[in-house]
Amino acid sequence: MRYSSAVILSCLPFVSVAVTASQYLSVSLALSSLFDNQAASADGSADFDAHGASFDSQYLPPGPWVYDGITYDFPKTWGEGNDNVVANGQVLRLDTPTYVHELHMVYSGDASGSAHEFVANFVLNFADNSTQQLQLYAKNWWRWPILNWGVIRTPYSFIANGAQKNFNASQIYQWSTAIPSEQPLTSITLPPLSTAHRLHLFAMAVSPSTSATSTSTAAPPLAIRRARFTTRWDTVRGARAQAVEVTLANMLPSAAFSSLTSTSTENTSAALAITTPHTIELIGPGLTTLSRGVVQRLVPGDQARVDVLVANTNANSAGGGTATVVVRDARGQVVLSSAGWAMAPLVESWTAEKEVLERHETPTWWNGAKFGIFIHWGVYSVPAWGPPKMYAEWYDWYLRNPANATGPTWEHHLDTYGPTVSYEDFIANFTASAFDAGKWVSLFEKAGAKYFVVVTKHHDGFSLFDTGNTTQRSSVHFGPKRDLVAELLDTAKKQAPGLHRGTYYSLPEWFNPDYAKYGFGQWPGGVARDAFNASLVQSYTGALPLGDYIDDLQLPHMLELATKYDTEIMWCDIGGPNRTLEFAAQFYNHAQLQGRQVTMNNRCGNVPDFETPEYATFGSIQPTSWESSEGMDPFSYGLNAVTNASQYKNATTIVQTLVDIVSKNGNFLLDIGPTAEGEIIEAMMEGLLDTGAWLDYSGSCIYDTNYWFPGSQDANPPPGAPAVRFLTTPTTFCIVAFAPPANGQLVINKRVPLLPGDSLRLLRPSGGVEVPWTVDAGTGQLVVSIPEGALADGRFAWALEATYAVESD
Ligand SMILES: *[C@@H]1O[C@H](CO)[C@@H](O)[C@H](O)[C@H]1NC(C)=O
Ligand SMILES: *[C@@H]1O[C@H](CO)[C@@H](O)[C@H](O)[C@H]1NC(C)=O
Ligand SMILES: *[C@@H]1O[C@H](CO)[C@@H](O)[C@H](O)[C@H]1NC(C)=O
Ligand SMILES: *[C@@H]1O[C@H](CO)[C@@H](O)[C@H](O)[C@H]1NC(C)=O
Ligand SMILES: *[C@@H]1O[C@H](CO)[C@@H](O)[C@H](O)[C@H]1NC(C)=O
Ligand SMILES: *[C@@H]1O[C@H](CO)[C@@H](O)[C@H](O)[C@H]1NC(C)=O
Ligand SMILES: *[C@@H]1O[C@H](CO)[C@@H](O)[C@H](O)[C@H]1NC(C)=O
Ligand SMILES: *[C@@H]1O[C@H](CO)[C@@H](O)[C@H](O)[C@H]1NC(C)=O
Ligand SMILES: *[C@@H]1O[C@H](CO)[C@@H](O)[C@H](O)[C@H]1NC(C)=O
Ligand SMILES: *[C@@H]1O[C@H](CO)[C@@H](O)[C@H](O)[C@H]1NC(C)=O
Repeated sequence: MRYSSAVILSCLPFVSVAVTASQYLSVSLALSSLFDNQAASADGSADFDAHGASFDSQYLPPGPWVYDGITYDFPKTWGEGNDNVVANGQVLRLDTPTYVHELHMVYSGDASGSAHEFVANFVLNFADNSTQQLQLYAKNWWRWPILNWGVIRTPYSFIANGAQKNFNASQIYQWSTAIPSEQPLTSITLPPLSTAHRLHLFAMAVSPSTSATSTSTAAPPLAIRRARFTTRWDTVRGARAQAVEVTLANMLPSAAFSSLTSTSTENTSAALAITTPHTIELIGPGLTTLSRGVVQRLVPGDQARVDVLVANTNANSAGGGTATVVVRDARGQVVLSSAGWAMAPLVESWTAEKEVLERHETPTWWNGAKFGIFIHWGVYSVPAWGPPKMYAEWYDWYLRNPANATGPTWEHHLDTYGPTVSYEDFIANFTASAFDAGKWVSLFEKAGAKYFVVVTKHHDGFSLFDTGNTTQRSSVHFGPKRDLVAELLDTAKKQAPGLHRGTYYSLPEWFNPDYAKYGFGQWPGGVARDAFNASLVQSYTGALPLGDYIDDLQLPHMLELATKYDTEIMWCDIGGPNRTLEFAAQFYNHAQLQGRQVTMNNRCGNVPDFETPEYATFGSIQPTSWESSEGMDPFSYGLNAVTNASQYKNATTIVQTLVDIVSKNGNFLLDIGPTAEGEIIEAMMEGLLDTGAWLDYSGSCIYDTNYWFPGSQDANPPPGAPAVRFLTTPTTFCIVAFAPPANGQLVINKRVPLLPGDSLRLLRPSGGVEVPWTVDAGTGQLVVSIPEGALADGRFAWALEATYAVESD
């Protein structure tokens, strides 16, 4: 369970009081006055990307279009003129300066190919002439073979002004984000033009704050931002209870918070914020709340996400029906009831249909796990060599590319092994002779990881698991003659049941002769030529005759990992041709029958649960599931012997990267590259153990936390102050500083949800120590006093954990 504060109920009091809900409003911004581009047409005559490509208008939803409760001003009929604006520094004014709670936008970038994502900076302009940058991590309108899924997907786009079609699905994306509400917002400056990837905005809307004066003084204006019937579940009294994710918003502007001072009476704080445990339940046809959500603190401008666990006997009924969300205060009085939330039951049995599988999402355990270990281990661990800034696990590819010609890997290979040694000859030296699965599992646990993902087959096609009669190109038949994946997963299951087990699997293979008919780009398939004598055909060790690569090798391998190895994360790579719909249905059903919940990334070719940026972090909170992966090596996932010990990521880098990612709603998958013998080198071990030592006393600010809706960090830190990140749980608020605060003080120029009576502790190896703090009522500035002595034994990052005072009611 994600939230320990939830209470299992034996019965529910009948709700008789109807309370008028504050509606979660959205107001369209008049973007159409700036429209200067036509994205869609019926015949391809529109020119979205300035290169003759465009959307087919029949696939775009007509306006007004509602998504996630927000109404967007789309054209009533697409294809009849300009329908979007290309960002170019235009200024979009609000009719009147308004305190804004949340900003919403629908957009798409118009590049494609390798430029998948890009950063676009908006500027928010406020009534006091202050400004703040707002960073959008924007995605382009199509990506292949790895997927970026938007909220609107069309099966193809027109190219060559309609003369042809590109069947890569094209995408339109949506993003909602908190807006600071210390000041009314007067205008938004759109990002500057970038010709490499233009940002197109189709619609924008704001959810205004509720003005403090228009509300009763008894309680803050609350609104249900959303109530989402998820595919996540928990076992309650032996049955599957569905998690309904409810997001509650305090619609006051954070400026209203200024009246919350150390001299506030209980009554004034209760008028502005939730300061006592409020519970959330759901009422609807066939619905029983089994475990209520609890929100203990909700300050002006903030949102809280909690799970309510329900029994939904309305399952399988076609109509679905709607549910009402009821919020009660600590005395059990109903303070908000909000009707009309669409119900969707848990899926009892997954079928290979896109529409069904699209609903699947990352399980609760994955969302709370935050930190995983990635392991790149295989035949490439034998040469363990890569040119500067290139992946060492790509040795076999770089050895032959450029073809028939000299290149850094080609030269290294010639110098080190001579022209008669081929990549296949490394197989015998992939010995795993020192591999001890128990040692690896202990190390992952000591590092504080909650899951791992092991490479079971990389692009070289050499598997580390039993591939049965599909091929003998595996560690079971060659090299160590051991089922390395089984050893690791079985040991983990027994030795560390709480550590979740994942498998990386490359869908294509570079030089598998049977992949030739599916080959593309850097995964052409087909026989490889000898790197030093192109007239010689390279063998493909262990290959057996195959009918079809996808039917007889790829799909069987994936199913084997799911059903025989019981993987919990299918971490595919590359994507491309696939039978992933059939795979996913069997994967999910197999796990569900065993009472487990599993997940799949966005590189399996279809229906992704989460996105997987590499060596990338974001400048803003990304509300959908994502996981960033990075090697401990600065440039490689596989071991690269050229890298010096001092170049590996130390715990300062690891911890701060982890905290940054988690504060923006992501998970961090940190990669290690063991040696061909199966040892983890000292330089990597050290960083992992140091990270684990930090998580040991700071983990309550990482695991099972949520991002803090108003922002991941202080956008306006005082000069010289350390960078900080914010994280939250229903009962705590964390500030993690990336340097020890100097001169005995940490100053934060952002209103955090601390109230008089809350205790703030500095987490330390020797035990947490309470530290005094004050908030300036006018500016909201937080000043924490931290005696130098208290910092003595901290390293890497300094976590301050506030525990909310529970008022006696
Ligand atoms: C903001 O700037 C404008 C133009 O310079 C000026 O007229 C106005 O007084 C300023 N407002 C504030 C609150 O400083
Ligand atoms: C996807 O786009 C690429 C690049 O334009 C193109 O080569 C490929 O044929 C497209 N794929 C499909 C299925 O249309
Ligand atoms: C708070 O409000 C309650 C009910 O309105 C009232 O009875 C009580 O006296 C108030 N307390 C203070 C400290 O103002
Ligand atoms: C394999 O290992 C043996 C023994 O250490 C060594 O002599 C040989 O050069 C290695 N061959 C390759 C291809 O790595
Ligand atoms: C491999 O074995 C399975 C199960 O025994 C069988 O169904 C399949 O046809 C075999 N495949 C090949 C390529 O021999
Ligand atoms: C390349 O291989 C062919 C075929 O075995 C052989 O005839 C030729 O001499 C080789 N070339 C070199 C440069 O070794
Ligand atoms: C490399 O050599 C082979 C065999 O001579 C030839 O078929 C192939 O086209 C060459 N590739 C390139 C890129 O020159
Ligand atoms: C995965 O397979 C489906 C069904 O054949 C296909 O439509 C889709 O384009 C494939 N995904 C990728 C990334 O190629
Ligand atoms: C590793 O250290 C050696 C010795 O200081 C240096 O010559 C070499 O360039 C370093 N390697 C890299 C990849 O920086
Ligand atoms: C950790 O690595 C970072 C980045 O390379 C470096 O700036 C820092 O000095 C290192 N810290 C320690 C304690 O070595």
